[in-house]
Amino acid sequence: MNPTRAEIDLNKLEYNYNSIRNYIHKENPRKKVKICGIVKANAYGHGIQEISRKLISLGADYLGVANYDEAIKLRSVIPDANILVFGTLIHSKLKPSAYVSKLLKYNLIATVASLDTAKFLDYYSGKLGRKFRIHIKVDTGLKRIGLDVKRAYKNIEQIFTYKNLIVEGIYTHFATSESADKSFAKYQLNKFYDLLEMLRKGGMKIPIVHSANSGAIINLKDSYFDMVRPGLLLYGYYPSDDLKQKIDLKPIMNLKSKVTFIKRVDANTSISYGRKYFTEKKSFIGSIPIGYGDGYWRSLSNIGKVSIGNKFYPIAGAITMDWLMIYLGVKSTVRIGDDVLLMGSENGNYLGADKLAKILKTIPYEILCAVADRVQRIYI
Ligand SMILES: Cc1ncc(COP(=O)(O)O)c(C=O)c1O
Repeated sequence: MNPTRAEIDLNKLEYNYNSIRNYIHKENPRKKVKICGIVKANAYGHGIQEISRKLISLGADYLGVANYDEAIKLRSVIPDANILVFGTLIHSKLKPSAYVSKLLKYNLIATVASLDTAKFLDYYSGKLGRKFRIHIKVDTGLKRIGLDVKRAYKNIEQIFTYKNLIVEGIYTHFATSESADKSFAKYQLNKFYDLLEMLRKGGMKIPIVHSANSGAIINLKDSYFDMVRPGLLLYGYYPSDDLKQKIDLKPIMNLKSKVTFIKRVDANTSISYGRKYFTEKKSFIGSIPIGYGDGYWRSLSNIGKVSIGNKFYPIAGAITMDWLMIYLGVKSTVRIGDDVLLMGSENGNYLGADKLAKILKTIPYEILCAVADRVQRIYI
């Protein structure tokens, strides 16, 4: 069996979930704020089915996915949960009524980001004699999808006339919630508050209001409303360094492999493609069966390191599709079969996705999502 695997610790997921729940209820213990666990993109690379099952067992009220394909797959393992789809409805190859009938069969909750979607769902749900649960998405500044907050009131008035829609929720999404400079997030939040106040005065009651992603959960307490939508925090990382330490979290994934080949090479031997690394002395080189085909970044060639036992070893030369090589030293106690940590934390050595993201000038989200399908996920 391929020794490369992602070990995912569901006890740490539980720890993070409880940390988030305690944090959001610290201010106001009497108000129960719902939690929508974000499991899109295969639960940020951790495996949507197992993570979702665990979140539901912990009491998560909703699961958030990016599109209808993810939602339908998820429904097959989670028969009852509230599954909210953030994406827009894109007309499928099916006839509209067959399409809407399929979505209704899977009991999904749609995001309505335009009047067209609302009309479409209302019309075909009506033809089927059914009602569709929706959450209205309002664009307060991200400029991705959603009803423009300036026109949203009129649009929502219109949506309220559609009798085959159940307007269960309304939400917005922040552009800068993780940033120490809160000005734009507060601007978005104020726009959202103004709209909610107008809706209240207009007699339009929407039961579940939500806006807070991970950054806002830590940074913007006024953004909780009835439900929060943590993604990254669940997986044990902070959306920015500014927000570290406010909630205690544990990274839940350890990306691991094993040393499977060791050789002793002469001084001045080149290692791997392109001959970008040369040994200085006669030394040991280990080969690990993980590469960019597994989602381990080629840009870490010659600059990344891995951990074996409680020691770090540098990556030697170019990372290839299926292998990378490490420098073990002129003498080495490392043996074939020794466990290698490539991402995560073990034996006091930290190689978190945030640390890799810094080297790679990206964000931990991308590092986690990149772990390829061919890497076996093992749940602990
Ligand atoms: C609509 C929506 N809500 C919540 C989240 C969760 O974000 P985060 O992982 O920063 O908590 C996302 C992810 O991007 C999202 O698209």
